Amino acid sequence: MDPNSSGLAQKLAEAGQSHLLQFWKELSPEDQRDLLQELQGIDFQEINGFFKSAMETSSSSRHEKMDARMEPVPREVLGSVTRDRESLKDWEVKGLDCIAQSKVAVLLLAGGQGTRLGVSYPKGMYDVGLPSHKTLFQIQAERILKLQQLAERKTTAKCCIPWYIMTSGRTMDSTKDFFSQHKYFGLDKNDVIFFQQGMLPAMDYSGKIILESKGKLSMAPDGNGGLYRALGNQGVLDDMQRRGIEFIHVYCVDNVLVKVADPTFVGFCVQKGADCGAKVVEKTNPTEAVGVVCKVDGRYQVVEYSEITLATAEKRSSDGRLLFNAGNVANHFFSFPFLRDVVQKYEPQLQHHVAQKKIPYVDPQGRLVKPDKPNGIKMEKFVFDIFQFAKTFAVYEVLREDEFSPLKNADTQDGKDTPTTARHALMSLHHRWVLNAGGHFIDENGTRVPAIPSLKDGTDLPIKCEISPLVSYGGEGLEELVKGREFQATLMIDERGVHELVRNGV
Ligand code: UTP
Repeated sequence: MDPNSSGLAQKLAEAGQSHLLQFWKELSPEDQRDLLQELQGIDFQEINGFFKSAMETSSSSRHEKMDARMEPVPREVLGSVTRDRESLKDWEVKGLDCIAQSKVAVLLLAGGQGTRLGVSYPKGMYDVGLPSHKTLFQIQAERILKLQQLAERKTTAKCCIPWYIMTSGRTMDSTKDFFSQHKYFGLDKNDVIFFQQGMLPAMDYSGKIILESKGKLSMAPDGNGGLYRALGNQGVLDDMQRRGIEFIHVYCVDNVLVKVADPTFVGFCVQKGADCGAKVVEKTNPTEAVGVVCKVDGRYQVVEYSEITLATAEKRSSDGRLLFNAGNVANHFFSFPFLRDVVQKYEPQLQHHVAQKKIPYVDPQGRLVKPDKPNGIKMEKFVFDIFQFAKTFAVYEVLREDEFSPLKNADTQDGKDTPTTARHALMSLHHRWVLNAGGHFIDENGTRVPAIPSLKDGTDLPIKCEISPLVSYGGEGLEELVKGREFQATLMIDERGVHELVRNGV
């Protein structure tokens, strides 16, 4: 076990990374073995190449704004839940038909580190504090189960929506254990397929890999666009092909409202003949920090708010909406041939993006330093980087309050995208489902509660109401349970029936 005799020291010297062995002699034999193993698995010339091109792209894009090259999404590629109501049923039928024929798979991006939320376990295991205390993983699993049932009503055969779950080196074991402990939430174990994305080292601004301890490199997942490399090298594409998958819905773990394998979205994209599709929500505030889907030099792309001027962000079209209003929610449709081409042909063309971060490191004296300002970069690819390769692109606009409430941050007073906002968004949606199905809510005195909750004690709290995905996927099938009835919150509707739990503090 010697880096010199194995040729590793030489390799590191050639790549300008010899400092990684700086503390070699101080390490225990086990730590030496682990470090050697880690270093032998890394292609340093490749990493140096990634660093060089990522830094070049990032410094040129910092100075150049996109404005003059941008065009909004044309109406003919756009479908909208509010503006195309007459087509929604057709799209849904089409999507359910594809699901019934087991042509649709879902792919969950769950390899992130959830640093802002700050929990030590994978974000999908988080309980946002719903009355049922279901985790994000359970909510998504139950939506898949329900959708399989809805699709099976159309055929006599059983159908299956395979669930591909991308984890990272840091989240794989705990994610798998969690699913196994919960018996895959009722799904068939063989149809839940875990795979692992790659990791890349964090680097300082001069391209030196950062040590997080004397014997360990600072490694992070290579971004949610690491998906494409992982699909190829983990055999996932082959599995999809074997199963006859034709369409794939890709989404992020942190959106509590996500309509997994949304049949209307799938049906819309299929009818459009799209190879790639993006679900969006309307951006209504010019300064909202959200990327927008648009065309740049004639190709589809997500443009971040930092890449355009305020004047462009504020532009409006004749209907009064923002011109660039297609807010990206990382919720995508791919045809299988497109995904295969991306993995086999286009992936190497994708550049890493640079994220400047505060990265704890060991200094040359061997002391651990926690910097208070960014001292290095992480390199990431993004899932939407491949839009540019689409031949037929489709955009599907949905309502934010129905479909998008991401969990990003820990709870703080008035915080954005927190467990509280996620919980409130889900309960508010389910409250509306009950009202739309003809149910009513009453307070403890038997008085009807207004449909739009009013300020109570200075806080704008939603009615506590939760409907299990096993009962309703998107608000359907509730009339027979709630029509003409009055309920006192907390209302829970699940596969065992309708329950009113009078309790506080949810
Ligand atoms: P975010 O960019 O919000 O990152 O991920 P995150 O890891 O959840 O949280 P922070 O930034 O560390 O606080 C958006 C989605 O992309 C996935 C995440 O799991 C989430 O579903 N993701 C992110 C990956 O799958 N891999 C990655 O390398 C990064």
